Amino acid sequence: MNLFRTKSIASIKAQAADGEKNLKKTLSRFNLINLGIGGIIGAGIFSITGTAAAQYAGPGGIIIAFIISGIACGLAGLCYAEMASMLPIAGSAYTYAYATIGEFLAWIIGWDLILEYLFSASTVAVGWSGYVVSFLKDYDIIIPQALCSSPVNWTEEQGFYLTGAILNLPAMALIAMLSGVLIVGIKESAGFNNIMVIVKVTIIVVFIVAGLAYLNMDNLTPLIPPNTGKFGEYGWSGIFRASGIIFFAYIGFDAVSTAAQEAKNPQKDMAHGILISLAICTFLYIMFSLALTGVVYYKELNNSAPAAYAVDKMGAAMEWFKPFLKIGAIAGLSSATLTMLYSQPRIFHSMASDGLLPKIFANVHPKFGTPVFGTVLTCFFAAIIAGTFPIDILGELVSIGTLLAFIIVCGGVWYLRRSNPDTERPFKAPYINWVAPLGIFACLLQMVFLKSETWLRLIVWLIIGLIIYFAYGMKRSKLNQSND
Ligand code: ALA
Repeated sequence: MNLFRTKSIASIKAQAADGEKNLKKTLSRFNLINLGIGGIIGAGIFSITGTAAAQYAGPGGIIIAFIISGIACGLAGLCYAEMASMLPIAGSAYTYAYATIGEFLAWIIGWDLILEYLFSASTVAVGWSGYVVSFLKDYDIIIPQALCSSPVNWTEEQGFYLTGAILNLPAMALIAMLSGVLIVGIKESAGFNNIMVIVKVTIIVVFIVAGLAYLNMDNLTPLIPPNTGKFGEYGWSGIFRASGIIFFAYIGFDAVSTAAQEAKNPQKDMAHGILISLAICTFLYIMFSLALTGVVYYKELNNSAPAAYAVDKMGAAMEWFKPFLKIGAIAGLSSATLTMLYSQPRIFHSMASDGLLPKIFANVHPKFGTPVFGTVLTCFFAAIIAGTFPIDILGELVSIGTLLAFIIVCGGVWYLRRSNPDTERPFKAPYINWVAPLGIFACLLQMVFLKSETWLRLIVWLIIGLIIYFAYGMKRSKLNQSND
């Protein structure tokens, strides 16, 4: 039994070359940057920013939270870029870990990535539902609250409780619809993604410009509301907690790394795709949160479509923008959900190819050429989760899981520099002895400030993963069969 057995970089590259036979290398640097932006901009900025400002950080605090989180992602992004240029293969952090720190942690990270992809598909779908309901309401189509909100919620005082709602049906319907599309193999094409990015960025820019024009300084006072006496409620602990929560808004740049095999020039363009998309989004997020909290008093932002609420506040002159904002958000959130639903079965596929999950996850449909079983299973769970839980519980769980994955990637890159100093690195993260440990520290810092319940949920999730690994994957692993 060797928990730290690794797949050699050479064998991963050979596997990549094998897989590449069927993949066309069509993605340019511009496409990769857009892929990053397409994955990044979603429910984080359109929905979660409002609640994070309202409950934890206040107006100035939310901006600082975006800066802290942006720095953490920048540091982790440099490590991702080095890893992706070294190992240009789908499978992302899971494959990187398999090559560096061994099978056991690779499994943990693969299991953890379910929190990133499957759970974020649910989270973004809940955000989508909020905008759809708000859009329909403008045309007097009212979806009863019981059919479009989560039946389960959680507060510190009550723990988990039933809200009286039945299910969040629009969120479930979106997941079912998109999964159907994915099964028949209509992958979001680079061209479609480019259009989505233009739509999302345009409405964000218009929102920023309008928000700055309607900015009311009174809303920005106090810039950082004093801590209420409770850890994480405003003040500095609130800002750090908010940064862990809005970290969700940055997730997605790492999706660029999963497109490595379809990139025309992965060695150079992966790094640019990751870092440039991250830089653009950081700037947009800071300006967006300034506009949002400048127009609406932060305490009023605790709702499911805060940007739409802000446009309402701008008054009659901006009435024309309302449908554009909502349609833009709805389209943008659908494409972000699609990306997540697309990625999850492919990670299952990588894990099943290594023997860590049952073979059925690696099967592709003879006619459609898609991993049907993984897609249906992802759809089933993502729909149930989206139908049942509110966005903040889901978003926090995704954040903590992804922060953990980032820490492992930063650690892995740092370690590889020592263990494999001679492997070709088309992109080398600068000052790695600073960047990697600081990346680990910044991600850990954001994790530490998240609620203890979120930690508990992560731990329960990891324990379930451990049980599956020891009961199944460890014995069935292909490496086990070849080594023993
Ligand atoms: N960053 C993505 C979003 O905000 C996951 O929806």
